[in-house]
Amino acid sequence: MALREQWRSRWGFVLAAAGSAVGLGNLWGFAYRASEGGGAAFLLLYILIVLVVCLPVLVSEMVLGRSTGSSPLLAPVNAAGPRWSPMGWLFVIAPLGIGSYYAVLMGWTLDTLIHSIFFGLPSNLSEAETFFGSISSGSSVLLGQLISLLLTAIVVSAGVRGGIERLSRLGVPILFGLLLILALWAATLSGTWEGYRTFLLKLDASQFFNPSTIRNAFTQAFFSLSLGIGIMVAYSSYLDKKNQLPKEAVSVASIDTAVGLLAGMITFPIVMSFGLKEVISGSTVGTLFISLPTGLGTLGLTGRVVAILFFALAYIAAITSSISLLEVPVSSIMDRLGWGRSKAVFVSTGLLFVLGIPSALNLDVLGKMDSIFGGVLLILGGFLLSIFLGWVVPNRFDEDLAGCNSNHRVRRYLKFMLRWVSPPVIAFGLIVSVVDLFQNWSS
Ligand code: TRP
Repeated sequence: MALREQWRSRWGFVLAAAGSAVGLGNLWGFAYRASEGGGAAFLLLYILIVLVVCLPVLVSEMVLGRSTGSSPLLAPVNAAGPRWSPMGWLFVIAPLGIGSYYAVLMGWTLDTLIHSIFFGLPSNLSEAETFFGSISSGSSVLLGQLISLLLTAIVVSAGVRGGIERLSRLGVPILFGLLLILALWAATLSGTWEGYRTFLLKLDASQFFNPSTIRNAFTQAFFSLSLGIGIMVAYSSYLDKKNQLPKEAVSVASIDTAVGLLAGMITFPIVMSFGLKEVISGSTVGTLFISLPTGLGTLGLTGRVVAILFFALAYIAAITSSISLLEVPVSSIMDRLGWGRSKAVFVSTGLLFVLGIPSALNLDVLGKMDSIFGGVLLILGGFLLSIFLGWVVPNRFDEDLAGCNSNHRVRRYLKFMLRWVSPPVIAFGLIVSVVDLFQNWSS
C-alpha cells in the first residue's frame, strides 16, 4: 500500500479544518437562521451547543480519523468491525448530499460577485429580486454550479498538501482579514446598534422553548463546524501523533464561531441601516443575495467595493469548505477501491454535479436538501459518534489522546461529556428537529 499523505505542519491541519468549518454556513446560514426570530436565545443556544456538545464530538471525529488512518467510509469498520459499516455509509452519503447543493449556493455567490465587479449593484429591491431570480434559475445557475465544482475538483486533485493545505493556508488568513475590515466598516453605519439589537441581542426567553429555534441552533452548530459526517475523520487521517487534538478542536471551534459572529455583525447593520428588515424577516434561502446587494447599492462606489469584498470573501470561504466535502468521497473511493486520486475526483465531481441538478433548478428542493442533509443527518451523525467513541470503543479515545500527551484532566472532562452529556442532549436535539421539520413541511 502506498504511504498515506500527511499534512506539512500542525498549522496546515488546523487551517484546513478551520477552512472547512468556515464557509457559507457562517456567512449565509448564520444570517439566515439568526434572522428567523430566535434572537439572543438562538445565539446563546448555538454557543452552548458548540461548547458542551460539539467540542467533545469534534475531538472524537479527529480521534477516529487519526487512530484508524482510514477514510470516513472505512474508519468505523476498522475501529469496531463490519456491523458499523452503515455509519461509514452515512459519512459518505451525507457529504455527497451537502456537496450537491453547496455547489449551487457557490454558483449564486460567484454570479453575484461577478455582477458586482462588472455591472454594479441593483438600485432598488425589485431590481435585486429580478437579479436573484436570474441567478437562481435557468442555465446560469448550472454554469455557476459547474464552475464551482470544477474549481473544487482542481484543488482536491492536487492532493492533501499540494491542494487542500496550500489553499487553506492562503485563504483562511485572507478571509479573516477581510472579515475584520468589513465588520469595522459596518460598525460605522447608522443602523448598526439597531441591527445588533434586533437580531443578536434581543432576549426573548420563550424562544428557548421554540422548536424551530432549537433546531436552528443545533443545525447551525453542526453545519458550521462541518461536524457529524466524517469530514474531520478524513482530515485527521492525514495526521501524525504530534497534534494535541483537544487543542486543535478548540482552535477550530473558536475560529468558526468568531467568523459566524463577525458575519452577523456585518450583515445585520446593513439590513437595518437600509430599511430591509421586511426582506429578511420573510427569510428564504435567497435573503442574503437580495438584501445585501440592495442595501449596498444605495452607497455608490463604497457599497460596490464592500459588496465585492464580501462576496469574494464568501467565495473563498466556500471553496475551502467544498474541498472538504469532496475529499470525503474521494478518500473513501481511494481507500475502498484502490483508485488513484484523479480518477476518484473525476467520478465524485460528476456525481455531485448530477445530484445537484434538482437543487439548482428548484429552490424548494434546495431548502429541503439543506434541512435533511445539512441538518438532521449531521445531528444523527453526531449522536452516533458520541456513542461510538464514548461507549463502543472508549479505549481508542483514551489511547489516542494519551499518545499525543494531552492534559489528562482535559481528557477526563471530554470523556465525561462524550459519555454522559452529548448523547442525551444530541438525542433531544435530534427529536425536536425531526418533529419540527415535519411540522413545518406539513403546515
Ligand atoms: N462548514 C461549512 C460551512 O459552514 C460547510 C461544510 C463543509 C459542512 N463540510 C461540511 C457542513 C460537512 C456539514 C458537514 O459552510
